[in-house]
Amino acid sequence: MNKPYYLTTSILYPNAKPHMGHALELVQADFLARYKRLHGESVRFQTGLDEHGLKIQRTAEAANLSPRAFVDQQKEHFTGLIEQLEVVPDQFIRTTDTKHAEVAQAFWRRCLATGDIYKKTYRAWYNIKEEEFLGSADDVKDPSVFGIEERFIELIEEENYFFRLSKYQDEVKRLIEEDVYKITPKNRKNEVLNFVMNKGLQDISISREASKLPWGIPVPEDPSQVMYVWFDALTNYLTGACSIDGQGIITTDLEWPTDLHIVGKDIARFHAAMWPAMLLSAGLEIPKNLLVHGFILGEGGRKMSKSLGNGVDPIDMLKVYGSSTLRWYFLKEIPTTEDGIFTEDRLKEIYASDLANDFGNLVSRVLTMTQKYAEGKVPDVNLEGLGNVEQMIVQQKWEEYHTHLTSFEIDKALEAAHSLVVFSNKRIEEMKPWAMAKDENEHAALQELLYELLEIIRHITLMYQPAMPSIAEIIQSKVFTAEIENPFTWGGLQPGQTLNAEPLILFPRLA
Ligand code: MSP
Repeated sequence: MNKPYYLTTSILYPNAKPHMGHALELVQADFLARYKRLHGESVRFQTGLDEHGLKIQRTAEAANLSPRAFVDQQKEHFTGLIEQLEVVPDQFIRTTDTKHAEVAQAFWRRCLATGDIYKKTYRAWYNIKEEEFLGSADDVKDPSVFGIEERFIELIEEENYFFRLSKYQDEVKRLIEEDVYKITPKNRKNEVLNFVMNKGLQDISISREASKLPWGIPVPEDPSQVMYVWFDALTNYLTGACSIDGQGIITTDLEWPTDLHIVGKDIARFHAAMWPAMLLSAGLEIPKNLLVHGFILGEGGRKMSKSLGNGVDPIDMLKVYGSSTLRWYFLKEIPTTEDGIFTEDRLKEIYASDLANDFGNLVSRVLTMTQKYAEGKVPDVNLEGLGNVEQMIVQQKWEEYHTHLTSFEIDKALEAAHSLVVFSNKRIEEMKPWAMAKDENEHAALQELLYELLEIIRHITLMYQPAMPSIAEIIQSKVFTAEIENPFTWGGLQPGQTLNAEPLILFPRLA
C-alpha cells in the first residue's frame, strides 16, 4: 500500500467567527486534496481548531462562558463553514480532545528525554493576539518598538519551561536551504532563512504558570504549568497520524511524515523553524513541504476590518453566491502565494465573466447544438485523425495544469483550464456551426466540430472538478454519464453514445 499524501491546513483559532482568510486556506487545501484524489493518489486531509491559550480564555470570560462551553459553541461555526464551502477533510482535530492532550504530553516527554527542555525564570513581552513571545523584557525596555497595539502586549515574569530551539538552528537552516523541507514560494523560503541567519533561533518558553493561564494542556509531571499554545498546537499534526502506548508516540511509514502543511504568511515561521526543531528533538521525521499563502485583503487593499467597513463574512457570500463561485474566486482570482483583494463587486464580475458568460454559456450552447444538430448524441464521427489540433491543445493544457500544480500554483493551473473555455468559445464564433447546419456539404465537418467541443468540455470539467466539485458533478451526472476507461486522454467520449443534452443553466443570472 502506498503512503497517503498527508496534507493539512493550520488549526484555526475559534475565538471569533471564521473569516475569509480561514475560508481561503480551507479551500486551497481541499482543492489540492481533491486534485490528488482525482488523479489516483490516496490522500489524508486534516484540519481542525486550536482551542487553548490566553486569547480563548479571555474571550470566553468576556462572554461569561467556561472556555469549554465557549469553544464547543464556536466549533459549530467552523464546521458549518467547512460544510458550506464543500471542504471535505478526513480528520478534524480539536486540541481539547483527550487524544490530542495525550499526544502533546508524549511529545513533550520525548523532547525532555533528549535534554531539550529546561526551566528558567525570565521576563518577556508577549503578544496575546498572536500568542507570540516578542522578546526579553531585560533587553527591550520599551515594547512600542514591536509596532503592536499596546492593548495586545503583556509583560510576563515567570519561571517556565524552555525549549532548546537554538540547538537546532544549523540543522533547520540546512534542511530548508537544501529543500529537504521545501518552502513555497521562494521569497518566503528566503525570508525564513534570513531570519534564521540574522536573528538566530533563540530558546523559547514553552509553558505558562497554570495559576495564570489554566486553559491549556498540563505539563507532564508538573501540573503547576500548562503548555504554551504553539507547542500544543503544532503537535496536532501528529495527533491524527500517530498512536500512543506506554512507549510514547508511534508513527507508521504509512501515516507520517506530513507531505504538505498549508499556512498563512503570519505563521510561516512557527512552521518553518519551531516545528522541524521540535520534531528533530523528538526524533521524528520532518514534513516535506510548507506552502505559504498570502492574505485576503479588503477593498482598497487594506486589512479587512469592521471599522473600515470592508469586512466580508464568508457565510454571507456563500448564502448569495454559493460555494462554487466563492471557491473559484479564492483559487483563480487570488494568486496562491500572494495577497489578494476580495470585494463583492469583483465577485459579481467574475461570476458574470468567467463563470456565466464563458463557461456556463459554452456548456449551454454546445448542449443546445448537440440536441439540434446531432439528435442529442455524441456525434457518430470517425475518431481516427479527428481533432488533431484540439487534441494537442488539450494535452498541452493538461501538462501546464499539472506542472503548475506541482509547484502549488493553483491560480495558474486554473488559468490554463480556463483558456480552453476561451478557445472553445472563439472556435464556435469562427466556425459558425449555425451556418454550417444550413449547408449539406458541411454536415460532416459540423459533426466533427461538435464532437471536439463536447470532448473539450469533458476535459475542462475534469480540470475544474477540484475547484468546483458540485458544478462538475452536475455536468457529469447530467451529461457525461457513461463510464470512460481513460478519462484523462483525448477521445474518451464514444461516438454515437447518447447524451443527456437537455439545456443546462449552470450559473443563472443573479437576482
Ligand atoms: N491557531 C494558529 C495556527 C496554529 S497551526 C499549528 C493560528 N490561527 S488563526 O486562526 O489565527 O489563523 C489560521 C490561518 O488563517 C493561518 O494560516 C493564518 O495565516 C490564516 N489567516 C488569517 N488571516 C488571514 C487573511 N486575512 N488572509 C488569509 N489567511 C489568513 O494562527
